[in-house]
Amino acid sequence: MAFETLIVDVEDHVGLIRLNRPEALNALNFQLLEELGEALAEMEASPRVRAVIVTGSEKAFAAGADVKDMAPKGFVEMFTEDRFTPETEAILSCRKPIIAAVAGYCLGGGCELAMMCDFIIAADTAKFGQPEINLGIIPGMGGTQRLTRVVGKSKAMEMCLTGRFMDAAEAERAGLVSRVVPARDLMRDARETAGKIAEKSPLTARAVKEAVNRSYETTLREGLLFERRLFHALFASEDKAEGMAAFAEKRSPQFRGR
Ligand code: CAA
Repeated sequence: MAFETLIVDVEDHVGLIRLNRPEALNALNFQLLEELGEALAEMEASPRVRAVIVTGSEKAFAAGADVKDMAPKGFVEMFTEDRFTPETEAILSCRKPIIAAVAGYCLGGGCELAMMCDFIIAADTAKFGQPEINLGIIPGMGGTQRLTRVVGKSKAMEMCLTGRFMDAAEAERAGLVSRVVPARDLMRDARETAGKIAEKSPLTARAVKEAVNRSYETTLREGLLFERRLFHALFASEDKAEGMAAFAEKRSPQFRGR
């Protein structure tokens, strides 16, 4: 499918989605969010895709929700037409691993979108922030909730109250990003990382994603039980037999997602 706000490509089992509204620093309007949901749904359905990268440009992953779209709207319109919720649900329902490869501005809804991905690899140029307070609003796609869970109350509160930006090094120290790489290496690194994931069993990768995400939703006791059930369930898979046989035979496993 052709998209107006995205550039989409699949290569070597890795789906690449590049946000593409350069005139607005990739601000997230509803069209972009809708197309992102559609692109991810296509990747979810495609057996060719085993891992996905979402990225932006060198200057901006995304500078937030589209302020120009929101400016004329009042409470009733935002409340009744709330399209952030369904569009972001589409993103969250993707069961394949999604990496956010972030360079430049990653602000407001952009930071919230990056946090919806499974992990973030940042270029050393990345700047993260929840500057909504400067517009007289608060984050509306999870910023007060996900950022707090990821970096803790003190830093999240400060970020949301002052609107200040966090550079890549601070984001790594705070646990917001998994790694920081030189900007010129960002896409190569993201592709290599996605490629490594694509070599694993897609069945097992899906289980990892479910189990880690569950840790955000439940108690430790329930989370451990959930993990154990998935751990046991994977012993019924052909990929488990292949993985263990390959180890014993000192060769690389050939996983088939069964
Ligand atoms: N929405 C719409 N357009 C945006 C935008 C946004 N979030 N961010 C940048 N743009 C547009 C600018 O209006 C400008 O367009 P024009 O040339 O037509 O004026 C173009 O992108 C380039 O931006 P700047 O000239 O401002 O670039 P800069 O390098 O001087 O500054 C910036 C970059 C610091 C990121 C600045 O653009 C900025 O502060 N952007 C807004 C950031 C923001 O407030 N984000 C939160 C949005 S609200 C939100 O996200 C709510 C939510 O949680 C769901």
